[in-house]
Amino acid sequence: MTALFKPLTILAGMRGVAGWLEDDEAELLLAAAVQVARGDRLCTLVEIGSYQGRSTVVLGGVLKALSPESRLYAIDPHEGTVGAADRKLSTGVPTFDAFMANITGAGVAEVVQPMRSLSYETVWDQPIDLLFVDGLHDRENVERDFRHFEPYLTPGALVLFHDYAGYYPGVVAFVDALVAGEGWRIVERASSMVLLERPGA
Ligand SMILES: C[S@@+](CC[C@H](N)C(=O)[O-])C[C@H]1O[C@@H](n2cnc3c(N)ncnc32)[C@H](O)[C@@H]1O
Repeated sequence: MTALFKPLTILAGMRGVAGWLEDDEAELLLAAAVQVARGDRLCTLVEIGSYQGRSTVVLGGVLKALSPESRLYAIDPHEGTVGAADRKLSTGVPTFDAFMANITGAGVAEVVQPMRSLSYETVWDQPIDLLFVDGLHDRENVERDFRHFEPYLTPGALVLFHDYAGYYPGVVAFVDALVAGEGWRIVERASSMVLLERPGA
């Protein structure tokens, strides 16, 4: 028997990992992952910006229960740099060891493929069903993260951005441009998490 899907347990596990996801944001991330993982075929999830793994344990927890042969590619150079280039960047300690300990502790390491690189330097060649963008939060970086993987999004792919909020105007500007000019639609928001789809793609 595969692991039972227990959302409350996944969210409880997330709370033990340092990071910025609120409960309602994590719930929306989890719901989006369920949407793609409950299909008949294997799916591919990409996370840009893992930090210590708070969002990774949510996405990985869904995959482990619903589609354990599917994979979450968790992309982050793990140099400890967070923020936005047009506001404030902070550099703390490298996060890779904490990230690995956290995904292992949460029991999701087997469905997570860590990629220790910048999004736009990642060599990529496969279709993506869910893309979660949570790297640096200025417009240039958010757009570069998204554009690097955009060609690989499947027709029904779901895309989430974290920090779609006034304190990071670059994220707001880029997401609003996708909605106004590129056929994307906001499906739902939870605090600063926003879920998009592109109807008819
Ligand atoms: C806000 S934190 C991510 C938080 C994480 N999603 C969570 O739930 O805790 C941002 C992370 O993005 C990473 N990062 C910054 N620029 C990146 C890029 N171009 N590609 C991938 N990761 C990046 C940083 O190293 C940092 O760990």
